[in-house]
Amino acid sequence: MSKSLAVEQFELGVCYYPEQWPESLWADDYRRMRECGFSVVRMGEFAWNFFEPEEGRFTFDVFDRAIDLAHEHGLKVILGTPTATPPAWLTHKHPEVLNVTLEGVQHQHGLRRHYNYSSPVYRDYCAKITEVMARHYANHPGVAGWQIDNEINCETNVFYSVADHAAFRSWLRERYGTLEELNRAWGTVFWNQSYSDWEQVHLPRPTPADSPNPHQALDEKRFISDNAISFLRVQVEIVRKLAPNQPITTNGLFGHLDSHAMTDELLDFFSYDSYPNFASIWNDADRDDPLLDRKWSNNLAKVRSISPNFCVMEQQSGPGGWVNRMAQPSPKPGQMRLWTYQSVAHGADMLLYFRWRTASFGTEIYWHGINDYHNQPNRRVAEAQTIGRELGRIGKAVAGSRYAAEVAIVRDYDNEWDGELDAWHGPLTGESEYGWSKSLQLNHIPYDYLYMRENTGLDELARYQALIYPHPAIMSEETAELLKKYVAGGGKLIFGARTGYKDTRGHCRMMPFPGPVAELCGVTVEDFTLIPGGGAAPNIRWVDGGEERGAAAVKFNDILRPMNESVETLAVYDGDYYAGKPALTRASYGGGEAYYYGAAFTREV
Ligand code: GAL
Repeated sequence: MSKSLAVEQFELGVCYYPEQWPESLWADDYRRMRECGFSVVRMGEFAWNFFEPEEGRFTFDVFDRAIDLAHEHGLKVILGTPTATPPAWLTHKHPEVLNVTLEGVQHQHGLRRHYNYSSPVYRDYCAKITEVMARHYANHPGVAGWQIDNEINCETNVFYSVADHAAFRSWLRERYGTLEELNRAWGTVFWNQSYSDWEQVHLPRPTPADSPNPHQALDEKRFISDNAISFLRVQVEIVRKLAPNQPITTNGLFGHLDSHAMTDELLDFFSYDSYPNFASIWNDADRDDPLLDRKWSNNLAKVRSISPNFCVMEQQSGPGGWVNRMAQPSPKPGQMRLWTYQSVAHGADMLLYFRWRTASFGTEIYWHGINDYHNQPNRRVAEAQTIGRELGRIGKAVAGSRYAAEVAIVRDYDNEWDGELDAWHGPLTGESEYGWSKSLQLNHIPYDYLYMRENTGLDELARYQALIYPHPAIMSEETAELLKKYVAGGGKLIFGARTGYKDTRGHCRMMPFPGPVAELCGVTVEDFTLIPGGGAAPNIRWVDGGEERGAAAVKFNDILRPMNESVETLAVYDGDYYAGKPALTRASYGGGEAYYYGAAFTREV
């Protein structure tokens, strides 16, 4: 059962940094927040120095006053633990808490998230500040909950300090038990990489051609995720113990982190930081017919697979960008409102704008808030007021409502992480998710994301009429069995190129592909070729369409061979040395059907 936000009434709010403004502005700020219909503010997540200005001296005066005054104005406070920004006194005294790049360069004070998750010293400092804050605010009537740290794995999601190498070693010992097992899993007999002592084992380090051992690289990502969760766990356990009535969340969504496991194991619900104008500088802006704002639906679909009712802890409310990066246009009139309802439609039951007022100093002077530097009325405040009024009227009806879909795109973390390094399957997933999500959206077919995890059960799959699992290169025998049961029970399952050719260590299987689901799909891959970037892909031709040509079979071509006559060939390749060979097949299996498409999916296919 997923962890989900449970509120009676939709909650609207804003991120606020009382420590960045003269105290004389606070009362007016809070009063105007209420005029916008806001009921919640998040604060404190970067304010360690205000709680512990020097080691062991704890002060609460600033935040006590800020929280009391918020409470007097009828605002609930979500309080951040400030561990994303260790103070200078701490990093100066204990440089070992700092993060280090792959090349061995230590990050220094001056931005944020410059620490590592493994340093026992840093974990102790984090535990202490969390304990002191949780003890102090546990029974404060104005504190409604906690955000642990801020955006775990944002800015950087790799860690190479001495403590990280040591923690990785312990993680590996736990996972593999012996060096023999580790050597087998990493295939170290190849290029004489075998280890004879645990001290020789490290996270990836610089190598010629920047190409680490791929099995080590996959374990690195698994480790980073587990290690991030274990870092958060220290704080979560303290808050749970000392403030048992205040719910706990944290804000994502970032790479190298199993946000599903994190939420299930630690949080009451997941929170998402939503900046849809990234769509204007990333994603599909440069393609024909871009989805733009609707591209964000795809992110929100991933978010609600973690918590069906979730919080948007930060929703873009102005032009965005740091001084030197991520520069984005202003939301147009009405666009903030559009994004808000888009989040609501996906299951958000709490939403806070980022941020109340644009900072007039620091790295984020261009991440605009609702209020401008001048603090005079503007169109964004007016739009927030409109939204506040509307949600005030419908907020009870909205709370708890959930998105419903009968189709899901299936993903999993192992393939996401392995595919980051592996150019022979990684790039296919992005292409296919883009193709599918665009096609489903433009055809008005609601869809979910389903994450295949160790504990995923048949009941979760059986909720869907059709599952699309584009490129599960890594597939365990257990997953294959589960998928067979789903299809046998009447489900439709669609695979793309490269399915099932690796085991969970990332070794290629010494059997015909698609390995453990060959029987389910009724095909084997008799030959295959990668279509290099810019290389011409053959088209497909629909078998029942006479000479009608289909779309290009992009990125990779698995050339299929049906195992028996009951397997239908729906399309063949229409070019290259494999013209006429099956490209898309359908097999009946029990009460359902399995489709195999030999390429990456595009909207046109
Ligand atoms: C988030 C972060 C905020 C702020 C915002 C705009 O990543 O949590 O603190 O930095 O983006 O950049």
